[in-house]
Amino acid sequence: MSEWYKEDLAFIHDDGFRDFALKSAPGILEILAQNKIHSGLVVDLGCGSGLWANELIKANYQVFGVDISESMIAIAQTRVPQAEFQVGSLFKIEIPPCHGVTSVGECLSYLFDSDNNRQTLIQLFGRIYQALMPGGVFIFDIAEVGQVAQGNTTQKFTEGKDWVVLVEKEEQRSQNILTRRIITFRKVGEHYRRDDEIHRVQLYRATQIATNLRQIGFRVQTTRNYGSYYLPKGNVAFVARKPFPD
Ligand SMILES: C[S@@+](CC[C@H](N)C(=O)[O-])C[C@H]1O[C@@H](n2cnc3c(N)ncnc32)[C@H](O)[C@@H]1O
Repeated sequence: MSEWYKEDLAFIHDDGFRDFALKSAPGILEILAQNKIHSGLVVDLGCGSGLWANELIKANYQVFGVDISESMIAIAQTRVPQAEFQVGSLFKIEIPPCHGVTSVGECLSYLFDSDNNRQTLIQLFGRIYQALMPGGVFIFDIAEVGQVAQGNTTQKFTEGKDWVVLVEKEEQRSQNILTRRIITFRKVGEHYRRDDEIHRVQLYRATQIATNLRQIGFRVQTTRNYGSYYLPKGNVAFVARKPFPD
């Protein structure tokens, strides 16, 4: 059982934080279409509860989704039985030959897998490049440096019908790491059940990531929006295309 996005936070993320995936979906489908990818396999890294996978299936793609959280994958399998899902780290799974790779919601930034570092991230970019068909695209977003003012701690709560989530954020500028301390309360029967998680997120600079992708051979564009959906402040998206051979 992984320590992150356990049963209650997976449920709360699916119920209360679905906007990112659902509002990004039309714009990402548009990017696939602009690249003449109208069908075929899309690999979704950090697929969560399968919200985006569901939109891909509805649009006639095949989907292979990977997530480190068993609880997220359990929801995804129920939501999208037509897709294939696997529990595992996106830094370790084998990426099958495909037309597109997506990673929506800063999944590459999370430090859940202790092997996530600059080197393994660049190796992942290389493996994605190898797996993509010529003309294929890798679309993803990451969290950038500067989410919380230096020396500050922010606290926020969000509530749903039968849950509350409290999040405290702090950024360690020396290592460019954002720590989110998360406390959830979810109503189960008569009572509210408490759970706690700590999420550490590596923060990047868009220019460095774009350079890493170009060195591998990708043609890269950065964007602050997927179609009409503007990403939250401090997030940036990349559209990295594997060119056709000359
Ligand atoms: C903010 S959620 C986004 C989920 C989904 N893409 C969405 O947009 O709804 C981040 C997801 O990344 C997953 N994740 C983080 N690190 C991972 C890793 N190393 N391998 C696989 N999944 C990972 C988490 O379990 C979580 O489901």
